[in-house]
Amino acid sequence: MSILITRIGELMTVDDEERVLHDAAVVIDGGRIAWIGAAADAPATDERVDADGRALLPGWVDAHTHLVFDGDRTAEFEARMAGQSYAAGGIAVTRDATREASDDRLAALVAARVREARAQGTTWIETKTGYGLDVASEERSARIASAGADDATFLGAHLVPAGRDADDYVREVCGPMLAAVRPYVTWADVFCERGAFTPEQSREVLTAARAAGLGLRVHGNQLGHGQGIRLAVELGAASVDHCNFVSDADLEALAGGSTVATVLPACDLSTRAPLAPARRLLDAGVEVAIASNCNPGTSYTSSMPFCVATAVLQMGLSVAEAVRAATRGGAIALGRAAGDGAIGSIAVGHRADLHLLDAPSATHLAYRPGMPLTAGVWKDGRRVAAPLVAR
Ligand code: NIG
Repeated sequence: MSILITRIGELMTVDDEERVLHDAAVVIDGGRIAWIGAAADAPATDERVDADGRALLPGWVDAHTHLVFDGDRTAEFEARMAGQSYAAGGIAVTRDATREASDDRLAALVAARVREARAQGTTWIETKTGYGLDVASEERSARIASAGADDATFLGAHLVPAGRDADDYVREVCGPMLAAVRPYVTWADVFCERGAFTPEQSREVLTAARAAGLGLRVHGNQLGHGQGIRLAVELGAASVDHCNFVSDADLEALAGGSTVATVLPACDLSTRAPLAPARRLLDAGVEVAIASNCNPGTSYTSSMPFCVATAVLQMGLSVAEAVRAATRGGAIALGRAAGDGAIGSIAVGHRADLHLLDAPSATHLAYRPGMPLTAGVWKDGRRVAAPLVAR
């Protein structure tokens, strides 16, 4: 069935040409974008949606979340707001609660979190394991992640479980754990940070994952300066995420490589960390993505509009830069920005993953932060959230 979305006040294509069209229309057919142009020239279709001057964007591509968890870390958050700093150790609290949850409960929690994200315009969402931390639990998390989200990532190297020898644990991650999760995931990630995994251990995990055919991602430079960013670039990782502490050498490496720097504004606020230097990264020519990092420890929100508003208001990005980072940037970070079924931009042949704002322009995302500005969401051409309300 073909659908026309017409009378679009502002259409941001976020494609190669970065077009912004006014009084525009889009035709969806077979789950793909079939036509883009002036509303007056639109062809006839089976169904017609009147956008009534609203803005249409690509759906958000959230390239970093940790949705497979149970339990609550309110107490840790309260302690942080009272002055304590974030430490990776809280991961073990979530691991314990996650291991206790039944398969059905975990799957239902993931589904509910994905629904929340969709309702705010997220049409593609990556999620990670990392709260299992043994072979059986990581395998279960990988299975649930791949069934519930659009991209699944193995993060067995999230924390060395207490009482385990780190090198022995790394051997388990690279051996039986990797083999167990392999059928369910396309990516592997490692938390390369003091208190988590050393650069040497991280390299071991990433090298094993690459040999198993997985794409690479890295949590790097979140809590302090270190080698995470440079390791990610050296190994050709698709993305290095967090990037709060970026030295000139890190910047140079990123600018000379193909690794996307994924910044996580909501996490930075929730951990009261220095904001990732997204402006400096963009000025150096680095491809930047914005993701929610939804997880119970450092960023308990999947709201991409909140992240985009923060990137504009506090990180110094323009609205166009923030929208690009949260759509096409995420798609590049997941290797899905081009080719058949591409996501993250509105172009003929791409997936019809669209986000209609209840506002005349994307500027309203930052101008009216915190407001419910989603009027409609289509994934693969099907309406998945937020019915259009006539104004
Ligand atoms: O991306 N930094 C490591 N992992 C998560 C936090 C996990 C947790 O504390 O539960 C993050 O921020």
